[in-house]
Amino acid sequence: MLPDDLLALAKDIAVEAGELLLAKRPARPEVIDTKSSPTDVVTALDRETEDLIRARIKAVRPGDAILGEEGGDVPGQGRVRWVVDPIDGTVNFLYGLPAWAISIGVEVDGEIVAGVVNAVPMGELYTAVKGGGAWLAGERLHCNTGVPLDRALIATGFGYAASRRVVQAEVLTQVLPRVRDIRRGGSCAVDLCSVAAGRVDGYYERGTQYWDHAAGGLVAAEAGARIGGLRGKPYNPELTICAAPGLFEELHDLLAALDPERDAPTGA
Ligand code: IPD
Ligand code: CA
Ligand code: CA
Repeated sequence: MLPDDLLALAKDIAVEAGELLLAKRPARPEVIDTKSSPTDVVTALDRETEDLIRARIKAVRPGDAILGEEGGDVPGQGRVRWVVDPIDGTVNFLYGLPAWAISIGVEVDGEIVAGVVNAVPMGELYTAVKGGGAWLAGERLHCNTGVPLDRALIATGFGYAASRRVVQAEVLTQVLPRVRDIRRGGSCAVDLCSVAAGRVDGYYERGTQYWDHAAGGLVAAEAGARIGGLRGKPYNPELTICAAPGLFEELHDLLAALDPERDAPTGA
């Protein structure tokens, strides 16, 4: 199947999932479970939405593998794997803040070739196909270029564990005086799309998972951003950095000097 066909299916599914979430979102969604820490929450709708996404993929492409935040990694028989975060930005969803999205990336032979981020409350559906650009509402996206670090608006996020946040706060105190300002939007997928759309100049975060950045990472890359980890590593849960070439290197070097890939001893 061609990446364009995979994208078309991903898009249809992300739209249907968005309709489900809009129709079913109660005024105050209830936490039904927690994961890594008491603040790492799951609502019933995270699970219901992922179930819907899995069912729709299976109906059309029964042999594909699916990795989803709530339902784990289910192997398939072919070359295609879907990477799903049913709600990225669950805390925003819980509080009625707009920055949350359905994120669906599609891998062929281990490489993401299509991605959709449906930022439902914002009415924005971001799409990208490898080599085909990043798109929003019929317009091709281009990230901001030529922005030096001291003028850059940088998005970031924080993990759920206190021991990680201790170090993230420490790193932030060194980044904040050296940039235009910081934004903490609350959704990695939306942050990456915001780099693509030029709403922020760059993004970094420690601790994001593959389902957080699979689709948004392709959108950002296809909009001209560089996305990677520390010292030439591909982006990974230890650290993800994303910005236009030039700013990427400046942000990378600042972060590398701060040893950001660590956590404080538990209980700190
Ligand atoms: C979270 C969001 C958040 C980021 C966290 C993620 P979730 O995903 O992307 O912006 O800072 O690291 O875990 O839990 O809302 O799906
Ligand atoms: Ca997420
Ligand atoms: Ca999630």
